[in-house]
Amino acid sequence: MLRILCLALCGLLTGMRADPGALLRLSMDLMNHEVQSAMEESHILEKMAAEAGKKQPGAKPIKGITDLKVSDVLVPVITLNFVPDVGIFQCVSTGMTINGKSFMGGNMEIIVVLNITATNRMLQDEETGLPMFKSEGCEVILVSVKTNLPSNMLPKVVNKFLDSTLNKVLPTMMCPAIDAVLVYVNKKWANLNAPMPVGQAGTVKYALSSIPTTTANYIQVDLTPLVQEPEGNTIELPDGGEAFAAPGDYAEGSSQLLLSAAFLTGELTLLQKSFGVKIKDKKIGSLPPLTTKTLAGFIPAVAKAHHKSKPLVTQIKINKPPKVTMKSGQSLLHLHGTLEMSAARRKGKAPVSLFLLEVHFNLNIQFSVQEDQLHMTTSLNRLLSLTRKSSSVGKFNEQDLTGFFTDYLQEAYVPVVNGVLQVGFPLPDFLGMNYNRAELNIVENALMLNLKLE
Ligand SMILES: *[C@@H]1O[C@H](CO)[C@@H](O)[C@H](O)[C@H]1NC(C)=O
Repeated sequence: MLRILCLALCGLLTGMRADPGALLRLSMDLMNHEVQSAMEESHILEKMAAEAGKKQPGAKPIKGITDLKVSDVLVPVITLNFVPDVGIFQCVSTGMTINGKSFMGGNMEIIVVLNITATNRMLQDEETGLPMFKSEGCEVILVSVKTNLPSNMLPKVVNKFLDSTLNKVLPTMMCPAIDAVLVYVNKKWANLNAPMPVGQAGTVKYALSSIPTTTANYIQVDLTPLVQEPEGNTIELPDGGEAFAAPGDYAEGSSQLLLSAAFLTGELTLLQKSFGVKIKDKKIGSLPPLTTKTLAGFIPAVAKAHHKSKPLVTQIKINKPPKVTMKSGQSLLHLHGTLEMSAARRKGKAPVSLFLLEVHFNLNIQFSVQEDQLHMTTSLNRLLSLTRKSSSVGKFNEQDLTGFFTDYLQEAYVPVVNGVLQVGFPLPDFLGMNYNRAELNIVENALMLNLKLE
C-alpha cells in the first residue's frame, strides 16, 4: 500500500519538478534595495502626509481640542524578513506629529510613533504570469505616544483620541501605503516575460516555471526560457537529465542568476545556420598560403590533379545543433558538421571539390556580461574527429591532416564563430537589475552570475 502511494506521489513530484532552464535567487539585500527604491519612486511619504492631513471620515472630534492637523510625518524605516513558504514580512516604522488647540488656548502636540506590519505573499499573477507580491494582514501598532498636554488631562483625552481616531483611522490611512509600495515593486517584473531579440536570429523570453518559493534566506524564482526562431518556431531545449543547482555554499546574502547549459544550447541553436561559412581568403593569420600546393604537401595526389597551384575554397556547414557542456570551471561548445575543400577556378566557374570531411570539434567558451546581455567568445579546444566522406583525389589518410585542420579551425574558422556570437544573449529583465557588476562562474551544467548591487 505504502509503495503504491509512493509510486503515485513520487511520480507526481518528479513530474512536477520540470527542470527550469534558468533560476534566480534573490537575497534580502536585493529585496531591501528594491523596496527602498520603490518607497522613493512611489513618493509614498508625501502621499501619506497628504492623506494624514485630510479630514478623516469617522474621526470623532475631541472635546476641548480644535484645529486638529498632522504637521509632520517621520521618514519611514522599513524592515523586511523572509517568512519561509510565504514571502516577506514587512514592517514600516514611522510616526507623525498631530497639532491642535486646547480649550485653554494653548497649542497641543501629540507625537505618535507607530509600526505598520504586513505579510507580502509571493504569488504568480494569473493574468500576466509574472511574480507578484500581495500584502496580507496589515496592522498598525502604536509604539509610543507623547504629548505636551498638562498631565492631569493626559490620560483621559489622549486615550479617547487614540480610541476614536488613531486605532480606527490609522489602518485605513496607512495600510494602502504598503500596497502602494508593492505596486512599484511588482511593476519591476513587468518586462520579464517580454520577448527579447538575439540579434536577427530569434528571441528569448523568460516565463515563470512555478510560483516563486521563499526560504529563510532567499526567494527562488524558477524560469522556463522560451527560445524562438523569427518565424515563431520554438526551439526545444535538450533535457538529458542534466540537473543543475546553485552550489550550496553560495555566499550568505548574495543573489544569483543561473543559466543552464541546456538553455545556452537552445540559444546557440538559433545561430546554427550562421555558423556555416565559405572561406576563400588565401592568406589567413599565420597559416601557410591556402592553395592546392600547400595541401599537396599532405596529400600528394592533389598535385597530380591540379598541376598549377590554385587558391582553396573551404565550405563549413554545421549540421547538428551546437551543444554547450559545462563542468566546474570549463564550458565547451561542441560543433558537428562537414568541411569541404575545393580548388578555385577562373571567374564564373564553380570550384572543383577536392574532398569532404566530417568534423567534430569543440571550442572553449569565455563568458562576459555587457549591459543586460551575456556575451561569449571562443577559442579552439580540440579537433575531436575527422572522417573522409568523399574525395576526388583518391584515398588519403585524413588523420595526417589533423594538425593542419586544427590550425585552420583556430585561425580561419573561430574568428567567424566569434563574429556570429557578437549578437549577445539577453539576460532576464527584472527588478531593474544591472548586470554590469555580476561575477561569472561556471558550475555543474550551468553558468552562475553572482549579482551585485551598485
Ligand atoms: C516597531 O518596529 C521596530 C523596527 O522593526 C521594532 O524594533 C520594534 O520592536 C517595533 N515595536 C513594536 C511595538 O512592535
